[in-house]
Amino acid sequence: MPTSKEFIEMDNKYAAHNYHPIPVVISRAEGVWVYDPEGKKYLDCLSAYSSHNAGHCHPEIVATLKEQASIVTLTSRAFHNNMMGPFLKMLADVIGPHINDPTNSGIMSLPMNTGTEAVSTGLKVARAWGYIKKKIPKNEAKIIVCRDNFHGRTITIVGFSSDISASRYYGNFGPYTPGFIIIPYGDAEELENIILETGPEKVAAFLVEPIQGEAGVKIPPEGYLRKVREICTKYNVLMVLDEIQTGFGRTGEFFACDHEDVKPDMLLLGKALGGGVYPVSACVSTKEIIGPDVITPGTHGSTFGGNPLAAAIGMKSIDIHLRENLAERAKEMGAYFIKRLKEVAEKQTKIPIKEIRGKGLLIAVEFTEDARQIVEELKDNGILAKDTHSTTIRFAPPLVITKDDIDWAIGIIEKVFVKQ
Ligand SMILES: Cc1ncc(COP(=O)(O)O)c(C=O)c1O
Repeated sequence: MPTSKEFIEMDNKYAAHNYHPIPVVISRAEGVWVYDPEGKKYLDCLSAYSSHNAGHCHPEIVATLKEQASIVTLTSRAFHNNMMGPFLKMLADVIGPHINDPTNSGIMSLPMNTGTEAVSTGLKVARAWGYIKKKIPKNEAKIIVCRDNFHGRTITIVGFSSDISASRYYGNFGPYTPGFIIIPYGDAEELENIILETGPEKVAAFLVEPIQGEAGVKIPPEGYLRKVREICTKYNVLMVLDEIQTGFGRTGEFFACDHEDVKPDMLLLGKALGGGVYPVSACVSTKEIIGPDVITPGTHGSTFGGNPLAAAIGMKSIDIHLRENLAERAKEMGAYFIKRLKEVAEKQTKIPIKEIRGKGLLIAVEFTEDARQIVEELKDNGILAKDTHSTTIRFAPPLVITKDDIDWAIGIIEKVFVKQ
């Protein structure tokens, strides 16, 4: 096998430079551990941006992948298949109780592949619902989003990112889709003000992350989602919650909105839904919002969305997240990890630490200066983590991490963070 250095050179030569990866090559993985071609072992503290909640290569998920791959994998939606219905029924049964359905219309989903696609789907559904059900005058629908959001990278989605003029997109992808309004995150009062200013009759939806993961694990004030729910209900605005990164136990509840007992009108899911082995995403809502009055044949679709392989894996992934009680595990292990990190922060660190925050196993250590060097030193010492917005390091290991693994990690973190 070529060496790590050779693989990195190949990537640099043949892959568009749309990422700035930590210089490590992963060629094997199991549970919370990944290995490079030289056999060096690392603790994965990123989990493919929270896709590996159940751990790398979970044996049951891999077995499902293999089994379904030898039966039928892709049919396209030109035909029915025998796996999508059971998968979407499972979403209705398991995810449905987390969705606001005041008229008891029933839960329906639109299956897609990546998170970005689930978000794009949600935006289209929200606009279509706005015109068809809320009777917004044609082409006047507004969708409100938050500053520092991360919902993916299609042209429409980056167009309402507050990063468009900053380092991430350099403003190079315009002109962008109109109809989006950016407000500060965590400020429910501002949401109500902007709805009133815009005219409630023109606002179709408010799209929000319950915790802003990519922005550096930004946790809104207690009660924020509850207030958002009240405001959305008051003005008949859809509350669209992007739980692509926070869902499936990551924050210590099955969904992050469960911390406040809040039910959105639409949940956008991805990442861990695919069990870390296959891209599976979905826009889950009610028949009232995504039903046949709103979404009709041809208005949306994807060749791969709802394919039998994805459906089988999605079902197994949900089953495992529930059966292994990964949310509870994230709550317990997350609290322990944060406690231990705070102990480290009490010592004199090489770069001053501004804050340690997190919910469940979505944890951030924010430094006062650029932390890339720290990330690289962690890697050299056997921990893979990633900086977001340069000063913040996110720790989001698979939820199957043990107390012993955390103790081991803290030993390394202390060695790397603290002045010797
Ligand atoms: C909250 C959120 N939404 C959407 C996405 C986009 O998902 P994907 O990269 O699968 O398209 C991400 C990815 O990090 C995310 O964190």
